[in-house]
Amino acid sequence: MKILHISAECYPIAKVGGLADVVGALPKYQNNDTTLSQVVMPFYDNKFTKEHSFSSVYSSELTLGENIYKFNILKLNSSTLDFDIFFVDVPKLLFKEYVYSYDDTERFLSFQIAVLDWMLTIKEKPSIIHCHDHHTGLVPFMLQESFKYESLNKIPNILTIHNAQYQGWFSHDNVHLIPEFNFDHVGLLDWGGQINPLAAAIKCAWSVTTVSPSYMDELKSAANGLEWLLSDETEKCVGILNGIDTNVWNPEVDTYIIKNYSQKTIQSGRKANKQFLCDNYNLDLEKPLFAFIGRLVGEKGADLLPESFKIALKENNISVFLLGSGHGDTENQLIELKSQFKGSYNAFIGYDEKLSHIIYAGADFLLMPSRVEPCGLNQMYALRYGTIPIVRSIGGLKDTVIDIDNNGFGICHNEVTIEEITKAIKRGADLYKNNTKFKKIRKQIMSIDHSWNASAQEYLNLYNSLNS
Ligand code: ADP
Ligand code: GLC
Repeated sequence: MKILHISAECYPIAKVGGLADVVGALPKYQNNDTTLSQVVMPFYDNKFTKEHSFSSVYSSELTLGENIYKFNILKLNSSTLDFDIFFVDVPKLLFKEYVYSYDDTERFLSFQIAVLDWMLTIKEKPSIIHCHDHHTGLVPFMLQESFKYESLNKIPNILTIHNAQYQGWFSHDNVHLIPEFNFDHVGLLDWGGQINPLAAAIKCAWSVTTVSPSYMDELKSAANGLEWLLSDETEKCVGILNGIDTNVWNPEVDTYIIKNYSQKTIQSGRKANKQFLCDNYNLDLEKPLFAFIGRLVGEKGADLLPESFKIALKENNISVFLLGSGHGDTENQLIELKSQFKGSYNAFIGYDEKLSHIIYAGADFLLMPSRVEPCGLNQMYALRYGTIPIVRSIGGLKDTVIDIDNNGFGICHNEVTIEEITKAIKRGADLYKNNTKFKKIRKQIMSIDHSWNASAQEYLNLYNSLNS
């Protein structure tokens, strides 16, 4: 079986969030003697593309409305990744430093059209096309409806929804950018009066998955306008929990962290990493360290963090460290707190992959007070590194973290309020005081298996059911 993943992000080439981690890991776990899993993504102007070499496998021109753009399909030369990866280079549109920008409609349309134009020319066509999020949501529609791609319309395609908040909306004025189709079917593209690539994919894909079973249930009542559509299409929908790449996320060999460790050497290993954080960010090694890593947006509950930290730091003998970027207001409030809580609070506003690994290896608790969390990878990375997750029970967090009061290993709360967040932090501080229990839990959680093995198989089963 040949699988082609189409995605806007893929780790380690370009990463904005968990989508990149998933697309950079799942193919590795799918590849075996009988399955060839490959990725195609846009060619961005970034560090990775500057430092690697690529071969051109196909060149042509694509039409986007009245404009014609040259494009190349490139293949990464080195075998640093455990799967083949192809790139769509549209120099005039896609080749930018940032993954996302103001002109994403044209950019991602050119990406999708180039992939399908290229596919028309490939001898051994994929047996499954796997699309990820709205950036690739017009692929199922074009496969089904565009006259140009008629010869590809028997290829089963699936859509994975990593985040339904973002749907890629654009105006009907731009519908002419999509290669020619029977205009009587324009309704397939529409949701609420706009062209909605995510909705079009839900309607046209052969199967729709979400990145956790709970998120699939939740979407039927809260999906940023798509609730009814998802309920209607429920028969082809299934939730498959994400896994993590246990080769990249492995404290025994992780080259980003200060000291490697296993379950046996957890004590000294984690201490060295915590020490690094405390030395570099002026925090107290003796106090329990609560951390947050992520996008500073409403979905992650980030707007409530400044006030929650203020209260928690006043009421408990703890340290707090945050790594993230996002809404300017939240960033400013988080920066302002620094002067008030010198020695027990710090924040790094920005994106830093290495620092994130050190935090997973050195913090005692990881906070995820998410309002929406389709899956969440941070809590699984935390578990693997022996950091106890404190999560709001929703989506993938609900599916992966069990509370200590239910014979579990994490701290869970039900609402996203300052009161509940601070209460959960207090429960963490109390657990830390019970040294024997705390150490037992953090050692235990390192061996919970969240690798991709089981879920990669679930995807293969799904592909097989579509191919039969
Ligand atoms: P989402 O994709 O919604 O942002 P996930 O939990 O699925 O959430 O994945 C987030 C990924 O991005 C994790 O790998 C996390 O470590 C990483 N990450 C988020 N913010 C930062 C940051 N500021 N610096 C480094 N890594 C970050
Ligand atoms: C999205 C979601 C996150 C999920 C990730 C990978 O960014 O917000 O919860 O883990 O995709 O599927």
